[in-house]
Amino acid sequence: MEAEPPQEVIRKAIPVDEPMETPGLSTVLEDLPRTLPTEFRTVYTRCEVSEKVVALTFDDGPHAVFTPRLLDTLRDRDIKATFFMVGRNVKAYPHIVRRMVEEGHEVANHSWSHPLLTSLGNESLESQMRRTHDAIVAACGRVPILYRPPYGQVRMSQRKRIRDTFGYAAILWDVDPLDWQSPRQVKKVHDRVLSMSKTGSIILCHDIHETTVDAMPALLDEMKQQGFKFVTVSQLIQYEAQHLPATAAAAAATEEIQVKPSPELPVDAAPVAPDTIGTEAVSPGQP
Ligand code: NI
Repeated sequence: MEAEPPQEVIRKAIPVDEPMETPGLSTVLEDLPRTLPTEFRTVYTRCEVSEKVVALTFDDGPHAVFTPRLLDTLRDRDIKATFFMVGRNVKAYPHIVRRMVEEGHEVANHSWSHPLLTSLGNESLESQMRRTHDAIVAACGRVPILYRPPYGQVRMSQRKRIRDTFGYAAILWDVDPLDWQSPRQVKKVHDRVLSMSKTGSIILCHDIHETTVDAMPALLDEMKQQGFKFVTVSQLIQYEAQHLPATAAAAAATEEIQVKPSPELPVDAAPVAPDTIGTEAVSPGQP
């Protein structure tokens, strides 16, 4: 009768079931894309991806105090986010925009003064986007490739115009914790993001609200524990484009977006650049 092999040998013989990182995601994570894929969609609310990755986005900043605090939180957890910024705040706080880029975040366009784009003519529309585009480039040297229309509202003809003029994709969201509606309710922001986020989600938050920034440390720790990985929006788009079969990509594209009408367009006490106080009546509202 043969002796059983020692336990040690058996253990070595069994192939180790190591978690495998798909080559795709690691490639995507290497660097921030400087361009969109050739066949990018005009609008994204989320992306079709196979791994548990999400894009965390912050609108309406930078804010002089809350944004640096948020950047600390992200840096401590090695999480990259995407910032859709209001141009006049970019002009007021260019050093914060530079820090975003230095720390690997994506910077993107959210108009100059947060107007409802659907109310604008072509010249005003282009001016809103151009001034912000130029302010971002001047602040950090990075050319934005994405925008988010204020309130998520933009006409189809305007989307085409912006795509043709700036090469931008429009980025909406599928996770909205309504953080601007819930002042002083850290738990609501936390619970909503956690319950709604899924593979490929684009999460909408605002770095001009202290509540939102305060919710992040615990929320992000919990999401990481649940296996979520965080990428920037253009990384998510690139990941979808590289690894999604063409048919699925086409299906995703036909998902084209029912933008929820904004029932209210709140105006809040967002930071206003000193040089624009009194000259522009519109405050950044939400989203
Ligand atoms: Ni906004």
